[in-house]
Amino acid sequence: MVGARQELTRFKSMALLGTVAVLLAGCGGGSGSTTPPVTTPQAAAPALSVSTGTYATLQSVAITDSTAGATIYYTTNGSAPTASSAVYTAPIPVATTTTIEALAIANGYTNSNVTSATYTINLPAAPAIAPITDIHQGFIYQIVTDRFFDGDATNDNPSESPGLYDSNGFTNPANADWNLYWGGDLAGIQQKLGYLQSMGVAGIWISPPMNNIRVNAGTSNGETGYHGYWTRDFTQIDEHFGDASNSWTAFDSLVTAAHADGIRVYVDFPANDTNPIGAGENGSLYNNGTLITTYSTDTGATPYYHHNPNITNYEDRYQVQYYTLEGLADLDQTNPWVDSYLKTAVTNFLAHGVDGFRFDAAQETNWGWEYSLENTIANWNGTSSPARMPGQPFIFGEWDEGSGDALYPDSVKFSNNSGMNLLDYTLYWQLADVFGTNGSFYDIDNELTLENKGSTTTPAQGFTQPNDLVTFFDNHDQPRIMSQGADKMAVKEAISFLLTCRGVPVVYYGDEQYLYSDTDRGAVPYNRNGMTSFGSTDATLLIQYLAALRAANPAVAYGTMVQRWINNDVYIYERQLDTNVVLVAINKNPSTDQAISGLYTDLAPGSYADYLAQTMGGLGITVTGTASGNNPVTNFTLPHRSVSIWVSSGSVSPSIGSVTPRIANPGAPVTISGAGFGATAGTVNFAVGTTSLPASVRNWSSGQITVTVPALAAGPATVTVTQGAATSNAAPFTVNTATLIPVNFSVSGTPTLASTDVIMLTGNVAELGNGATTWNGAIGPVTIPAAGSALETVSVPAGATVQFEFFVLHSDGSITQESAMHTYPVPSMGVGNDAVNW
Ligand code: NOJ
Repeated sequence: MVGARQELTRFKSMALLGTVAVLLAGCGGGSGSTTPPVTTPQAAAPALSVSTGTYATLQSVAITDSTAGATIYYTTNGSAPTASSAVYTAPIPVATTTTIEALAIANGYTNSNVTSATYTINLPAAPAIAPITDIHQGFIYQIVTDRFFDGDATNDNPSESPGLYDSNGFTNPANADWNLYWGGDLAGIQQKLGYLQSMGVAGIWISPPMNNIRVNAGTSNGETGYHGYWTRDFTQIDEHFGDASNSWTAFDSLVTAAHADGIRVYVDFPANDTNPIGAGENGSLYNNGTLITTYSTDTGATPYYHHNPNITNYEDRYQVQYYTLEGLADLDQTNPWVDSYLKTAVTNFLAHGVDGFRFDAAQETNWGWEYSLENTIANWNGTSSPARMPGQPFIFGEWDEGSGDALYPDSVKFSNNSGMNLLDYTLYWQLADVFGTNGSFYDIDNELTLENKGSTTTPAQGFTQPNDLVTFFDNHDQPRIMSQGADKMAVKEAISFLLTCRGVPVVYYGDEQYLYSDTDRGAVPYNRNGMTSFGSTDATLLIQYLAALRAANPAVAYGTMVQRWINNDVYIYERQLDTNVVLVAINKNPSTDQAISGLYTDLAPGSYADYLAQTMGGLGITVTGTASGNNPVTNFTLPHRSVSIWVSSGSVSPSIGSVTPRIANPGAPVTISGAGFGATAGTVNFAVGTTSLPASVRNWSSGQITVTVPALAAGPATVTVTQGAATSNAAPFTVNTATLIPVNFSVSGTPTLASTDVIMLTGNVAELGNGATTWNGAIGPVTIPAAGSALETVSVPAGATVQFEFFVLHSDGSITQESAMHTYPVPSMGVGNDAVNW
């Protein structure tokens, strides 16, 4: 298989071939001629810039040829180069033991001799990875369970759902049906935990393990729930991943073993929908094995599903939340039974020891309901067996919005106000562009600036807690960057960036093995490759280095991120937390070394070796000046295709890096992660307005504290940690009034709207915006099911009597409001509904 970049190169070489003249061995002269035969000269053999030998660093091998106009062809796989081999265009990065063989072909010459050199690469082992307490200090590894490892052959073709399995999957993928099950299972993940642990994996995100449809939903081809997103029963484990009785045995066993290895488990939970409409099981929904409904029998007064067409306009808030996503039966989370069922299923996973969730299609699920989902998780105080890892559950939702998309501000507001962290799709689009198709580093830098802006603009553009965004450059829904054009070095550059960027990074399974397919340009399902190898590669080594750095230096887990030097191909940025400073320099240019002048850093004066020990072709630097901050770095030349990291570790006064959850009720447990908290307990204070209360401490270590939210009035709050004379930064937090339940607030008879008008909702409790009438402060923009009406689900305090009103927000910030507030007694449980007239 070849990537797009290599394919292009091949294409070029084919074209060139046509231009190579075929010269006759002799010419002219009839018999008896005395003219000596013309001897065609031979092209000079190519010269390799690095000699055969053993090296402890990554090498970059340039190839030249002294014959004018010669084209150089080369191989790295032991085969003799020919005119069909790759054409040399830029120095070749050599990261593992490799033999390069090169041949020159030039017009008017016979082919050169082949030059060959073997580079034995023995890269130095990475530093040991210190134990961590919090996921921010590590990284998550995303697994499509079916495609990872078959640990239990007995569940490959289970009797409940026979015939959905293709035994070619792992062994002969070219002949396999990529839409069938391939045999990977929870036992398989468990058997490979050692592999994950050796890379420093701190958490795994597994594809939905719950019971999926049992029949083929395709027409001609097999279409199965191998990916896990075609749920029929959220309360049971699928027979392909666990056992024939759909028990939790294999799941519990995996969680127990993962936790013993220091690996957290995050479950993908598709709360938006169940399974395909009009095919397969037609939206079947089961509760613990009992059929509740199908899509077509869902005809009751309070349907389980929305019965709307497919979403066609992803900029329409109503369509996105109430229409059908890709033909999948769209659950109405505000049907009281569905609400309770989904929340019970979520807390059931917590009871089975999971450490958090990835919420599938958070963008297409009812946004207001998701506030109550977060609240359910934050308040959950059951016991877990197996036990969870220390710290409160970490949750992140899928919301695919580019920063230029219409609902980007809605996604920011949703994450800031609901407490559900988001997968950083906005950054993803730039990472895929930069590392997959050689885009400009400015695109990444601009996106980071925007997302880190905070919530001060109107509408909010920035996330209040960028370090909680979940970052990635590959996943199961997008072509791997190798299918987009990245070579191995580009993958390692992407990994280097990802694991030093702010946020909680996710590495997609197999990237460390350079797994990819070019079929259909790597689109779904060809990005869900079967793992074929679990050995060491130069990428697994790089990940070990970076995991060791994340674990050891709190600047990477929790610090600021500042750009220090940039052009299209060079990105130098700094992470900092107190005296901990990590300066990262990437030059992705294929052939040009970059002279770096005018670089400043917060590293103290001194010499800094490359933390990666030149395994990525980097180098050391010297910092001069006073230790006051902006210290000049002595000019240097950054090698092409290299990554260097310079590190200083030091003391840290109390610094909060993350608060989990970010929103909770008084009395709920909250985990504060960061550094410098001290080994013995100090104090933690929560402040709302001018009222500050100490929180009772449940657990205290120098990097992680768990406390109980004190009994404060609801609203935006701050959290501080005090140890001795030092007090930390004030981290944002939100106190809820009480347990939240979802209420559908709807209004008819709304005024006619100008195209730039939106309808908002405000009310007399914090959860309804505390009377605010601004875009950031009030609820909304709300959904518009049809002209003249508005609908918004808001999670409000159970049992409270609330007052609310809708208003039109005009683009100049002025408002047109209802004439009076409505009063609504919120039920003490379940789901509320209040329909009013404007
Ligand atoms: C988004 C998931 O990531 C994708 O894989 C899935 O097909 C859809 N949601 C529908 O559940």
